[in-house]
Amino acid sequence: MDPIRLSRSCVGNEEIAALARVIEAGFLGMGSEVQCFEQEIKAYLATPYEVICVNTGTAALHLSLEGLDIGAGHEVLVPSITYLASFQAIAASGATPVACDVTPERVFIDLQDAERRVTEKTRAIMPVHYASDSTEMSGVYEFAERHGIRVIEDAAHAFGCKRNAKKIGATGDVLCFSFDGIKNITSGEGGAVITGDLELASRIRDARLLGVEKDTEKRYTGQRSWVFDVNRRGYRYHMSNLMAAIGREQLKKIGRFSEHRRTAAIRYREFLAGQSGVELLTLSDDDIVPHIFVIRVTNGRRDTAMQALRDAKIECGIHYQPNHLLAYFNQGYALPVSELLMSQLLSLPLHAMLTDQEQCRVVDVLKSSLEDKSNA
Ligand SMILES: Cc1ncc(COP(=O)(O)O)c(C=O)c1O
Repeated sequence: MDPIRLSRSCVGNEEIAALARVIEAGFLGMGSEVQCFEQEIKAYLATPYEVICVNTGTAALHLSLEGLDIGAGHEVLVPSITYLASFQAIAASGATPVACDVTPERVFIDLQDAERRVTEKTRAIMPVHYASDSTEMSGVYEFAERHGIRVIEDAAHAFGCKRNAKKIGATGDVLCFSFDGIKNITSGEGGAVITGDLELASRIRDARLLGVEKDTEKRYTGQRSWVFDVNRRGYRYHMSNLMAAIGREQLKKIGRFSEHRRTAAIRYREFLAGQSGVELLTLSDDDIVPHIFVIRVTNGRRDTAMQALRDAKIECGIHYQPNHLLAYFNQGYALPVSELLMSQLLSLPLHAMLTDQEQCRVVDVLKSSLEDKSNA
């Protein structure tokens, strides 16, 4: 039996040719390929906002926070169930990530719980488009307006998704995408900040290149600044031409990738509808390009199911263990839904090359592992 991957990069000859083109041109760092990728993302998202590409989604989150002057002495509300990157990006800015509980239906930040955790130090809320869904995002904007805080959307799972008929990135405050190897599109590693806040965009553009003022404009024409000034902290977080070349080819394929992921997720939902011991998340199938396919195993057999899948050479995962339970981020309070979900969440294989036969194998093994065979 061939192993089935949980997720994978879907890259091919087009990406190889694009890399060869950049290598032959002889400039691998940040230059015109990055500028083209940014313009193409902007066109794809049909967004009036600025697009700034960086080397990871984590860097996108970090630069957004610092660009908004969020740092030491400040707090940022964030769902406990998210990739560790959301928490570490907040910590890197010097601010404190304040873990909030999540809703059991969508694993989205629970705004009632967040309400209890607002203090005079709260500066931002960082909702995560968990499993690519953004159904409850309008509530976040009402919340943020009421408390006078910024919204940094961790949209790492949500490239290509829509909300209110517009692409994620066409509206909102600050949005951060990830283009790491297994995301809806990849640039090898990579990320982008999308924002209509021009001052923030300009700060992020400089900060991604060590804080050198207006260096981006020079790099896009194949030059660099030799004499310059620096007014803020900066990093080596820029995207390279090599990465952008991969990303540009991936963007051409997003229609096909989206269709494949969406169809596979709908098939899983059909296969598993009504299955005892399984709860499906409540997601808006039409609007999402699912990055992960997560179920809740509610009959106490999640670990048994994981072992059975592994024994059948099927990779599976847990997105994610709650961050408030990690020693570094533990603030000494319980988050009951996140802690319950820790023992229930199970991610099944999903990527743009998953075959129908592979999906059937996953579902067969899963269903059989969920049956209680003790009385058989
Ligand atoms: C929810 C979430 N936030 C942030 C990130 C960080 O993105 P990157 O891996 O590009 O740094 C990821 C990536 O896996 C993610 O899933």
